[in-house]
Amino acid sequence: MAKFCSKLRLAAAWSCGGCQLWAILLLQIFVLSFVVGPYLATTDGFNGLWGGANNLPGVGAVGLSPVVDVDALRLRGVNLPAPNELSKLLLACNSLPPRNLDLFPSLRDDRILIVLYVHFRPEYLKLAVSALSVVNGINETLLIVSHDGFYEEMNAVVESIRFCQVKQIFAPWSPHLYTDQFPGTSPGDCKDKDDAETLGCRGNPDQYGNHRSVRIVSLKHHWWWMMNTVWDGLEETRGFNGHAMFIEEDHYLLPNAYRNIQILAELKQKKCPYCIAANAAPVDVRSRGERFNQLVAEKIGNVGYTFNRTVWKRIHTQAERFCKFDDYNWDITMWTMIYPTFGDALYTLRGPRTSAVHFGKCGLHQGYSKSKSSQCRDSAMHLGSIEEADKVPNIDLEWSVRKYPIRGYASGFQGWGGWADKRDQNLCLSFSSMYSTSP
Ligand SMILES: *[C@@H]1O[C@H](CO)[C@@H](O)[C@H](O)[C@H]1NC(C)=O
Ligand SMILES: *[C@@H]1O[C@H](CO)[C@@H](O)[C@H](O)[C@H]1NC(C)=O
Repeated sequence: MAKFCSKLRLAAAWSCGGCQLWAILLLQIFVLSFVVGPYLATTDGFNGLWGGANNLPGVGAVGLSPVVDVDALRLRGVNLPAPNELSKLLLACNSLPPRNLDLFPSLRDDRILIVLYVHFRPEYLKLAVSALSVVNGINETLLIVSHDGFYEEMNAVVESIRFCQVKQIFAPWSPHLYTDQFPGTSPGDCKDKDDAETLGCRGNPDQYGNHRSVRIVSLKHHWWWMMNTVWDGLEETRGFNGHAMFIEEDHYLLPNAYRNIQILAELKQKKCPYCIAANAAPVDVRSRGERFNQLVAEKIGNVGYTFNRTVWKRIHTQAERFCKFDDYNWDITMWTMIYPTFGDALYTLRGPRTSAVHFGKCGLHQGYSKSKSSQCRDSAMHLGSIEEADKVPNIDLEWSVRKYPIRGYASGFQGWGGWADKRDQNLCLSFSSMYSTSP
């Protein structure tokens, strides 16, 4: 054990900056494995979490089962980059049980999972979490927070949550965790419009001649890693057949968002055969809805999109198209390459009043960085006061559905680029197979 701890401390020293936090994290892991772990192992319903962990090397020795076994995967031809010490720690963290099990020992069967995926905008996250804390029904479900790598301030915000079960996961191959090797930038890499042949550098330029930028590829990697992990990787969710709602750190849920999305998820099955999802907000993020007495079927938007495992499986069969399309935006990739393969069934159902507000002024479309994030902090977040009608479910089961035409990219659209390096495409493909049980 002492050996294990010193190994972790080495990792902490190596990554320093967040040493204090690492000490806390290590202590938590220690407490969870030795104090909580054995207790959970004897509690009904948690056997699976800890079972079989003891025969695994490394972290397994202290009772944590890594969600991904990189060495075993390599034997099967799935080549994930070797995790560094920090990533190993994160992999171990990902298999910890949810927090707040003492306050919320059980989940409702009709729950909709909430998945909040975050980058590095702590001020935004605080606001998003404060909104979540008063969402009606939040205490019936599991909140999963997926971090793009590790940022101490982001972690601290999530650790303060006491209003529901919450499970944190950390993308262990997030480029910013790797300072001198892929998925970060490695020494011989081409940059910008370098010519690989004359310079002898490494990389494949995109269709516009640009080489990979770690800031830009990070988002699509995180999204795909998160989707695969949430649906197929986690003990808590692998067997879950309901719906999951996805939000980001600059999405403010109104108090009725959860109840409304529960209603919409049901209604889409009954009223909208061409809908594969429900949304908490209009696709146009500036719109708060028409406020008429109808439901709307439209293009799937990015705020509070909600779908089930059936749909995930269909997305997952298109992994190759997702990972090889030369566009660094996950959403544009989905619209261009994945949804069209679903035929006519590519709509989402939503109510005529929004249940979520996109408040971020500082988008992530050009990637993000720690230094830039300060620009986002003081952006005016005028949300206004919450109207009474948005505090209670406000969807009428009798409403008809109005269908809006979907305006997509013209056929032949080749993507915005930024995603042509074979290493990125292969990493993405590895994420698609890291949880499959067959070779
Ligand atoms: C969830 O919150 C509601 C409203 O505050 C409360 O009535 C209910 O008992 C809570 N349920 C659980 C499981 O904590
Ligand atoms: C999942 O959603 C799809 C699309 O709405 C629907 O056809 C299917 O019946 C749903 N499956 C389950 C198990 O709810």
